[in-house]
Amino acid sequence: MQIETKKSLKNYNTFGIDVVAERFVSVKSVNELVDILTKHTNEPLFLLGGGSNMLLTKTVESLVIHLDLKGISVVSENEATVQLKVMAGENWHEFVQYCIKNNYGGIENMSLIPGNTGTAPIQNIGAYGVELKDTFVSCEALQIKTQTLEIFSKAACNFGYRNSVFKNELKGEYIITSVTFQLTKKNHQLHTGYGAIQDQLASKNIKNPSIKDLSEAVIAIRQSKLPDPKQLGNSGSFFKNPVISAKEFQVFRTQNPGAPFYEVSPEAFKIPAGWLIEKAGFKGKRFGDAGVHKKQALVLVNYGNATGEEIWELALEIQKKVKAQFGIFIQPEVNII
Ligand code: EPU
Repeated sequence: MQIETKKSLKNYNTFGIDVVAERFVSVKSVNELVDILTKHTNEPLFLLGGGSNMLLTKTVESLVIHLDLKGISVVSENEATVQLKVMAGENWHEFVQYCIKNNYGGIENMSLIPGNTGTAPIQNIGAYGVELKDTFVSCEALQIKTQTLEIFSKAACNFGYRNSVFKNELKGEYIITSVTFQLTKKNHQLHTGYGAIQDQLASKNIKNPSIKDLSEAVIAIRQSKLPDPKQLGNSGSFFKNPVISAKEFQVFRTQNPGAPFYEVSPEAFKIPAGWLIEKAGFKGKRFGDAGVHKKQALVLVNYGNATGEEIWELALEIQKKVKAQFGIFIQPEVNII
């Protein structure tokens, strides 16, 4: 384990932003992590997983700890279910593919979400009607201050839409080292309710989909509208879908009768930020190397050499225009560093 200096983070963030880390260390086990933490107590730390949910706008002065813990193991199983413990540094999509191969069901709708498994609980990743919390059992996390390993149950994580305790009360206090999931081995509960999924399955003439069919359908849908970070730097949805009150929704609906929406509860309505951004005229627009994706306006992209500041300026411009046009404030989903 060696601390490198002046290391470019370009290959460590899916936006492909070229900023420098003053000091950088990759850890491959919990022991290595404990070791580095004990040597650097009371120092500001920057924890790096898959780098898929961040926009780097400046040199990182804190010690960067790249969490490269690997391994998937069976904790317990019976005829119907299996519990798997997945180390934090496992790539999320590769884990999903591992499950498909072994016929473990429950996370197939979250195929192709970028990032690592250890950071997935922080924002309770989700797609096509399924969220991480649906198969989550617990996670192990190291308290930075004391270097002790603790187990967090599902209830303790307090999951919400793109949210958890690790983004709120416990922000910056713990490092998730592994996540345990419970998956099905038979009688898989398939979530095919999303229109896009139904259309995709119908186009392939699939009537009784397997989890593999569902994963392939999701991959096809995502590939058709979301850019591959390896080809075009991006961080998935840049903004969260805003949730507005019933009263605000009434006004919005009268003014925008064609707008898509989801009723979260009788009191709360979610409006797709992608629709708002498209209507504000940004879809497919490019400003230097910073841009808004052609096929999904919720995704900001780096055409090559955009700086984090340039992407952030574009995001602020979008926020301002959407607010002026619709009276709705859209918040970034990615972490701005
Ligand atoms: N829409 C537009 N224009 C656009 C994009 C979307 O009008 O440019 C409209 C669509 O026509 C549709 C609605 O907005 O009526 C919703 O679009 P979509 O189904 O693409 O989903 P989303 O709400 O934009 C969310 C997640 C995605 C996830 C999809 C599918 C958030 C912030 N994003 O996007 O997650 O893949 O649903 O479940 O909740 C991510 O978090 O990185 C991510 C990609």
